[in-house]
Amino acid sequence: MKLIIENANILNGHGEQELSRIAIEDGLIVSIERSTEAGTSVDDTTQVLDAKGRLVTPGFIDMHVHLREPGFEHKETIETGSRSAAKGGFTTIACMPNTKPVTDNPETVRLVKEKGNAAGLVNVLPYAAITKSELGRELTDFAALKAAGAIGFTDDGVGVQNAQMMKDAMKLAASLDMPVIAHCEDNSLVEGAPVAEGEFARKHGLKGIPNESEAIHVGRDILLAEATGVHYHVCHVSTEQSIRLIRQAKEIGIHVTAEVCPHHLLLSEQDIPEPDANWKMNPPLRSKRDVEACIAALEDGTIDILVTDHAPHSAEEKAKGMQLAPFGIVGFETAFPLLYTKFVAEGRWSLDFLVGRMTADPARVFGLSTGKLEPGAPADLTIVDLEQERVVDPETFASKGRNTPFTGWKLKGWPVATIVKGKLVWSE
Ligand code: DOR
Ligand code: ZN
Ligand code: ZN
Repeated sequence: MKLIIENANILNGHGEQELSRIAIEDGLIVSIERSTEAGTSVDDTTQVLDAKGRLVTPGFIDMHVHLREPGFEHKETIETGSRSAAKGGFTTIACMPNTKPVTDNPETVRLVKEKGNAAGLVNVLPYAAITKSELGRELTDFAALKAAGAIGFTDDGVGVQNAQMMKDAMKLAASLDMPVIAHCEDNSLVEGAPVAEGEFARKHGLKGIPNESEAIHVGRDILLAEATGVHYHVCHVSTEQSIRLIRQAKEIGIHVTAEVCPHHLLLSEQDIPEPDANWKMNPPLRSKRDVEACIAALEDGTIDILVTDHAPHSAEEKAKGMQLAPFGIVGFETAFPLLYTKFVAEGRWSLDFLVGRMTADPARVFGLSTGKLEPGAPADLTIVDLEQERVVDPETFASKGRNTPFTGWKLKGWPVATIVKGKLVWSE
């Protein structure tokens, strides 16, 4: 099976786009050449796709997503989540284990992989839990989970409250050459607060989540990572204080990496218009100062990668209001247009910078073979129409989740086709 993509505008690494022809065979990129007037002569076993001068990038990689299967199929399934990812231009996604049952056993790891393969859309990589049922009481069987295909350990959704438990987890993960990925949150500082401390919480009489609840875990875990030598990855960084600690840790050579979500770069607690749970996520929207710190940290490399924390919930659950609704917003189908429109089109970032943080960098941080546009690499590609302008309308989402604070935003740079292992899995 061969595929040729004609008139693909690819980033050449020097801030320019070059009109190219990409040849794909058996799921791999075999050649990338400058386009010529003549076009290619092809036999009938070759499919030709005309990119019409649109941007073609390595497929986006999202290392932090919730697909809800098994157990919460009313929110999302591996298939609907994969389709939503493909529609957002993502070709590889890594799923969090806070499913039902929790992905804390080899059978569930295998199930997630098998359902991902059966959906036949994007590459679905499973994380496994650090502790059984994510209760923080007993470690899971790391070796068996790794053997089943888990790519790292995390209790995302909750923080590991006990320091000795986290240290034991890191020791074990290090011995297996596996990363520990941490949702950083000290429960004793949060206790039922639905939004961050700040103006919005005060105005509406809600309890506020303080910045320290995140940063205390980041600081603790950095010390534990130093002691154990593990690769420690910080989830959804949202505070200035966490960033300060990560920056310092990197300076002295501790193996720490970090991610940030589009919403923490674009929204502060002051932007929440009214008590509407589509603005409720964990970590919460923080102060403008924190937003600026997150942007600067991504720009200077303190934060390595972009992720969505795609967290679909049903409309009924989100209708329970700010205090009672679950935390989380969907992310796949708005991530690239949001970041392109607000940071690239407005001139703050280069296109290379944005694409790098969503492709080559996550691949580097997690040792994946994807994320590159070069001969020999897997043919995971995204075609983006940088000129197409459209308003965010949750009713058009492929995800079952409609929970987004970005409804009505007018954005440019929509993905129009997604190719995984040489196969067109989604197109407009
Ligand atoms: O907003 C969030 N949603 N944060 C989390 O930590 C968990 C996630 C979910 O599973 O819904
Ligand atoms: Zn989390
Ligand atoms: Zn999450």
